[in-house]
Amino acid sequence: MAEFTLPKNSRIGKGKTIKADADATNLRWFHVYRWNPDDGENPRMDSFQVDMDQTGPMVLDALIKIKNEMDPTLTFRRSCREGVCGSCAMNIDGLNTLACIIACEDIKGDITIAPLPHMQVVKDLVPDMTGFYAQYQSIEPWMKTDTPTPSGKERLQSIEDREKLDGLYECVLCACCSTSCPSYWWNPDRFLGPAILLQSYRWIVDSRDEATGERLDNLEDSYRLYRCHTIMNCTNSCPKHLNPGKVIAEIKKMLVQRQN
Ligand code: SF4
Ligand code: SF4
Ligand code: FES
Repeated sequence: MAEFTLPKNSRIGKGKTIKADADATNLRWFHVYRWNPDDGENPRMDSFQVDMDQTGPMVLDALIKIKNEMDPTLTFRRSCREGVCGSCAMNIDGLNTLACIIACEDIKGDITIAPLPHMQVVKDLVPDMTGFYAQYQSIEPWMKTDTPTPSGKERLQSIEDREKLDGLYECVLCACCSTSCPSYWWNPDRFLGPAILLQSYRWIVDSRDEATGERLDNLEDSYRLYRCHTIMNCTNSCPKHLNPGKVIAEIKKMLVQRQN
């Protein structure tokens, strides 16, 4: 009989609690997932009470304050602090998003922070992106051409053709969409997931790229593309307000059209 309980070493325990200074008045609790591969312990939730008068407005600001002043071992990724590098993706208050562009004041009550769901955890809030990047590499995300450059210099694009890339080039490969997709949870090794499919479409519709047929061939597979069942969690979670669910539908449409 199938067993649906977590293995004992995956159960999340209660961690430590660290309070703000006694004279602080504007307080919020942050409950943060912790796991250290080196200590042999189960994952736990640590609670940090943060003085909001002494921190910046975003969740990432609070995490940086916690790391700087309360627990330097807290581990998370971040770089740009303005929503363009995609590295601070995590699950905040139940939603996959970028910690640097979500304001603490937009979340009610305590703030719970966990790594992106259904990914192996490297440490604390850092997911293992190895498989995700390997899938990205598999779609060959660069311009492929056979013909010589027309002008001998560069490949020009009309304004209309350039506009076809809007809603695609803005993707920061944060994986918020893929890790919110139930189909990706169950088949992360075989289904490409919404982020990589959106990236693939970005090259399929690029008027300068000459490998459209080859790219579509690579996607025409019951797992790589057709594991998408149009559940649309991906679109709901994209912090850049892109629509990977619609893009996947466009790819499926192109595959039908080329058979006619
Ligand atoms: S539409 Fe649904 S099944 Fe398809 S990629 Fe998005 S979340 Fe996954
Ligand atoms: S489509 Fe949106 S959620 Fe998905 S990887 Fe790109 S930016 Fe992130
Ligand atoms: S730190 Fe770059 S997107 Fe958040």
